[in-house]
Amino acid sequence: MKLPIIAYGDPVLRKKATAIQPDEYPHIKELVGDMFETMYAARGVGLAAPQVGLSMRLFVVDASPFGDDEPSLNNFRKVFINANIMEEKGEEWAFNEGCLSIPDIREDVSRKAIINISYYDENWKHHQESFDGMAARIIQHEYDHIEGKLFTDKLSPLRRRLIEKKLNEISKGMVDVDYKMKFPAAKKGR
Ligand code: NI
Repeated sequence: MKLPIIAYGDPVLRKKATAIQPDEYPHIKELVGDMFETMYAARGVGLAAPQVGLSMRLFVVDASPFGDDEPSLNNFRKVFINANIMEEKGEEWAFNEGCLSIPDIREDVSRKAIINISYYDENWKHHQESFDGMAARIIQHEYDHIEGKLFTDKLSPLRRRLIEKKLNEISKGMVDVDYKMKFPAAKKGR
């Protein structure tokens, strides 16, 4: 089932999400399936639970669209539950990022190259792994979502000022988007 994606301006995107326990969410795989379906329909490479209105430490990633450039990403489809980035290191590099909650805006964002992260998968198996390249980049972006952060927070004050009007319009639903969204400041009837 496709879920509506929460747009910029909704407080759920600003909350630090809480860890989840296996017994609280016996149907977690159903939710994970819905999140992948929602993400693919919107042609995203990552989606975090707050983006579908759930303040839980859960996100899904499928980096395979980057498989042409980085063959190791061809089957890179992963679920991250209760993730904790333990270390970020290496040189910062910039990449032009976008976000399904902030349609039509793309900006260069600098992030460190390598992460060391612990997390559980959808079978509640624990992992501790290092990622670099595009995988690290996507995970860092999604991890920010469960911390209540957005890529627009990382822009210079000038860049932020330049996109401020557009961000306001997005929260009101004044944006063309071909997937289902929920706009926090939309007038009734939209
Ligand atoms: Ni995002």
